[in-house]
Amino acid sequence: MATPDKNRLQKLIVFPTETVYGLGASAFDPDAISAVFEVKGRPSDNPLIVHVADKNMVNDFAIEISDDAEKLMDVFWPGPLTLVLPKKPEVLDSITSGLNTVAVRMPNHPLAQKALLERGAMVAPSANRSGRPSPTSPEHVLADFGDSLSVIDGGKCELGLESTVINLAEEPYTILRPGHISASDIESILQKKVIRSTDSIQEGPARSPGMKYSHYAPKARVCWFNPTSDALQSDTLYLMLNSVEHFHGENVINYTNDLKKLAAELYDRFRQADIQGFDFIVIEKPTSKDGLSLALINRIEKASGE
Ligand code: TXA
Ligand code: MG
Repeated sequence: MATPDKNRLQKLIVFPTETVYGLGASAFDPDAISAVFEVKGRPSDNPLIVHVADKNMVNDFAIEISDDAEKLMDVFWPGPLTLVLPKKPEVLDSITSGLNTVAVRMPNHPLAQKALLERGAMVAPSANRSGRPSPTSPEHVLADFGDSLSVIDGGKCELGLESTVINLAEEPYTILRPGHISASDIESILQKKVIRSTDSIQEGPARSPGMKYSHYAPKARVCWFNPTSDALQSDTLYLMLNSVEHFHGENVINYTNDLKKLAAELYDRFRQADIQGFDFIVIEKPTSKDGLSLALINRIEKASGE
């Protein structure tokens, strides 16, 4: 795919959020938005999330903010929750890939909020080349794009997994991408049943188009740890939660059930494992059913090609 020229790249800004770094472009500038697709190598039928600094900015994109949407914004914004709402006709087709809905999110990071207040609403996909893990540090952005993009440095992202995406455009509401905020968190606010994402690759038009694309698979094969058969191997990076008594070595990372830490470091571990030349990444599967566990299982299974 063509690399956008310098003038167009100057319209883009990489900014930190609490989840991952975003590649921002004005949500009102078709030329900047097309540069986002070009520089990422992103398929044009995968729509973008509009990022806002406050609730009022959503009115430029959504036909209306329903009572349920308003409740979720009040409780979870700013934060890692993306709402898919019926869109206004004037929203650029390049943002929504021609769908009749638009995804909106208010990130919880002071540098993101500052950039959005200064520049207005921005589309911001994760600032990685398509097919690479989402970036959780400025170094990851540099590894994918060199120094061709301006990056606002906020250090490492706190959460490390992309936001929960929920479709509020039709009932029953459906989780399209699991994240730190779970279906149960949302159910307890709305007092309505929320459908969990099936995660399966859909035939025909996908409900969340991003779901149909194969996600980052490291060169190393990613598999779940099997306590009955796995013995320590030197060509394997182990990301363990608890059952490590018989495993010791530089290639064993023990997260001692700290799932937040595993989530924050996962994409960096994937990138590092490839740089270090590991053939396998073996990960102990979380057993709990909370939002974070389901989000981790989702991203790890996508990376394993399951
Ligand atoms: O945490 C995040 O959400 C990060 C940070 C930068 O905010 N952004 C992010 O964007 O992960 P991206 O482009 O990598 O993922 C956007 C996801 C895709 O799966 C896309 O298909 C889905 O949101 N999406 C966007 N608009 C949609 C719509 N109208 N209907 C359904 N799914 C939509
Ligand atoms: Mg992405």
